[in-house]
Amino acid sequence: MKFYIKTFGCQMNFNDSERMKGILNSLGYEQAQNYEEADLILINTCTIREKPDQKVYSLLGEYKKIKEKNPKALIGVCGCLAQRMGWELVKKTPIVDIMFSSYNMHQLPELIQQAQAGYKAIAILENPPEDEDKLWEYPTVRDNQYCAYVTVMKGCDKNCTYCVVPKTRGRQRSRSLESILSEVRSLVYDGVKEIHLLGQNVTAWGQDIGMHFSELLYTVAEVDGVERIRFTTGHPRDMDEKIMKAMGEIPQVCEHIHLPVQAGSNRILKLMDRGYTKEEYLEKIQMLREFKKGITFSTDIIVGFPTETEEDFEETLELISTVKFEQLFSFKFSPRPDTPAYSMEGQVPDQVKTQRMDKLLKVQKAILSEIAKEYEGTYQEVLIESWEDGKLVGRTRTNRWATMEGPQELLGKTVKARVIKAHPYNLECEVVSVLS
Ligand code: 5AD
Ligand code: SF4
Repeated sequence: MKFYIKTFGCQMNFNDSERMKGILNSLGYEQAQNYEEADLILINTCTIREKPDQKVYSLLGEYKKIKEKNPKALIGVCGCLAQRMGWELVKKTPIVDIMFSSYNMHQLPELIQQAQAGYKAIAILENPPEDEDKLWEYPTVRDNQYCAYVTVMKGCDKNCTYCVVPKTRGRQRSRSLESILSEVRSLVYDGVKEIHLLGQNVTAWGQDIGMHFSELLYTVAEVDGVERIRFTTGHPRDMDEKIMKAMGEIPQVCEHIHLPVQAGSNRILKLMDRGYTKEEYLEKIQMLREFKKGITFSTDIIVGFPTETEEDFEETLELISTVKFEQLFSFKFSPRPDTPAYSMEGQVPDQVKTQRMDKLLKVQKAILSEIAKEYEGTYQEVLIESWEDGKLVGRTRTNRWATMEGPQELLGKTVKARVIKAHPYNLECEVVSVLS
């Protein structure tokens, strides 16, 4: 029996899929190369914006054909869209055999059994069940052997007015320190060098269990063999001095952080209910630069939030020029049902959103070229993650992609590399020495 999983959305969703692959392996399923040879297809959905929603419907139309060749094949939908739409989605997509929400991935074995017996297996829960932590007992199947995602918390207690996440992922639940550590230890045992802690709001880890995220950082760093630590996604509001100090003190924490700002105008930030001003955000960036020398930043920006004027948008451009983000993920505001921003007055026409997005990307491209130049001639520590088109590919501690010539034996090694030429999205390097 073979399975095929199609994943949309964020790293959390990708990590969920890795976990589902582990569950399916334990049931005797093997991974299929393409959906046509699969006996079980799962679509792990995202609903953060309207676009990924629509893609799911068109994919289902395509996957449906599989039943003509293999009538016993099962099609399942899970993740955030399933969570948000629930039974409405079941009615809209009669070909689906299995559907479950973000809360009950651990019930996948029972749901498959039910569907194999000819029943529709639907399990959409309103709230996380008590046995949700059972999920951690399953191993993950990872594509990357050297860098691993570890989900440390689920859900979000913030109330950003544009966001569906609190509805699709529920309230904040921190995974226990012991459970996280046992996964980290087993990953290191398997040869993983870089641990990437994940959560919709990772810097809030511990708040619901009387702990602080900085303690998690110190403790993970103590695990023998952990060479690098990253974490995503941090919220500027929870990014306090304790976390910054830990980042500075722990050598394994990489010099990079993704800190979504969303907008540069205080009026828009207030309407988004982000809980900080532009000045406060910039102060945190400055503090992080002081605590963690050489740190680089990436961010998310929403353009065309309701009532956003040209002046508001100019403030966003000003902010990105001030910070000089190494990566910028920009999105046109997409009104999501049941969020406060959905029904706000002053929705911005799509054409204006497109214009602003183009301008933002243009400004960012110039910033990137400028930043790239600063890398030329420098020495970088690169963890080699893969071998593509005859070249070694890895990432610097500052989260830049780097490619270089070298033998395949260097896969999984950390090397010192000299940057020969810097392009906006890639650093051409040469290996100077092997560090570990
Ligand atoms: N419209 C556009 N972008 C959104 N994001 C979240 N919700 C929306 C929305 N309704 C963006 C934010 C967030 C990223 C993951 O997706 O920038 O940080
Ligand atoms: Fe998409 Fe948000 Fe769900 Fe991630 S948590 S898959 S971004 S809706």
